[in-house]
Amino acid sequence: MTTHNISVTVNGELEELLVPGNMTLMKMLRETLALTGTKNGCSAGECGACTVLLDGEPVNSCMVLAVECDGANILTVEGLSGDNQLNPIQEAIIDEGGVQCGFCTPGILISGRALLDRNPDPTDEDIKEAIVGNLCRCTGYVRIIEGVKKAAKGLSVPV
Ligand code: FES
Ligand code: FES
Repeated sequence: MTTHNISVTVNGELEELLVPGNMTLMKMLRETLALTGTKNGCSAGECGACTVLLDGEPVNSCMVLAVECDGANILTVEGLSGDNQLNPIQEAIIDEGGVQCGFCTPGILISGRALLDRNPDPTDEDIKEAIVGNLCRCTGYVRIIEGVKKAAKGLSVPV
């Protein structure tokens, strides 16, 4: 297998990595960088548990090759919080009871963050559209949607 040198910024840290040509971004994050907050639900682009921001856009990291990320900026769920403080969208989704088993939560948070970055005052329909690719078996989505709305209301604080 051919390997490639890549430079990628992950959660603000520049990483210089040697990656196999067939390594996915999800595998690079979880296994090379030990960022296991990004979940592997299906490895097939179906569940959204592996969602990260790639240059500001949400992507299923199981469907992106690591080598394609050379020069890119990646944000994972680990990058949402800082200094032992939760990001407002994390707090809001917890407050609204939008976390049960938590397996979908990292992907939901990233999709929600991407939505609020481009639309700080989303309607319910906007939120549903933003998280349409994030499957949750536990919550029924209502509480997740309420959490994103609550985070939007608090947008005087940057998300
Ligand atoms: S693990 Fe990537 S979409 Fe399910
Ligand atoms: S909280 Fe369990 S899958 Fe969403």
